[in-house]
Amino acid sequence: MRRKLVAGNWKMNGSLEALAEVDGIAAAAKGANCDVALALPATLLLSAVERVGGSSVAIGAQDVHPAEKGAHTGCISAVMLKDAGASFTLVGHSERRADQGETDADVRAKAEAARRHGLAVILCVGETLAERDAGRAEAVVTGQLEGSLPEGAAAEWLSIAYEPVWAIGTGRTPTVADVAAMHGAIRAKLRELVGTEAEAMRLLYGGSVTGENAAELLDAGDVDGALVGGASLTAVKFVPIIEAPARLPVS
Ligand code: 13P
Repeated sequence: MRRKLVAGNWKMNGSLEALAEVDGIAAAAKGANCDVALALPATLLLSAVERVGGSSVAIGAQDVHPAEKGAHTGCISAVMLKDAGASFTLVGHSERRADQGETDADVRAKAEAARRHGLAVILCVGETLAERDAGRAEAVVTGQLEGSLPEGAAAEWLSIAYEPVWAIGTGRTPTVADVAAMHGAIRAKLRELVGTEAEAMRLLYGGSVTGENAAELLDAGDVDGALVGGASLTAVKFVPIIEAPARLPVS
């Protein structure tokens, strides 16, 4: 059975003052029936790790450079993230694929660099509205997965987040049936790519997850967790999501 993982992504939000929210989240995570993680801006990593590192909340980054060090102004390597105490990183978020033009090959290289230096990885995939409307959602998502899945992909350190671009920050979510269908397609593609390891790999859903819809989304077939943006910024909004798995029927 796959233990659920509820991860927050603070994106380009948060100050030292906002770390009080992390304290509240860590307190609630102690009693949660799921793993809890927060992908924070790089400026907050060290302080957050000092505050709650090694406790109930895994602290991680939102991106990583594929190289170990060198002349890459403004970038941060996996070695540096480890040094700051991060335990995981996101890679391939759609905002980076769109804003920074990251390709599947870039995402794969980032995931492999993270793994080489002992970071767990949440790899994000997802279609745009135009791609869904054209009936290509499944082909796009499984294509991204095939192109960006790192070498040696294993459930112990890799999770996949399905985040339809049109559901991010919009208050719109796919139906539970659509989420289950896409997660089933992702699992099937993973079976093709990594064999039985696919059964243990956690597949997270992301896009407008809230305390109100978390339970039904987390209960959908092949959904093993959530990746939450806006609603992860405060304990008041995030705690109901991390408490949702405890309310689900035992499967
Ligand atoms: P929202 O939860 O704000 O829609 O963001 C989802 C997301 O992009 C998480 O990575």
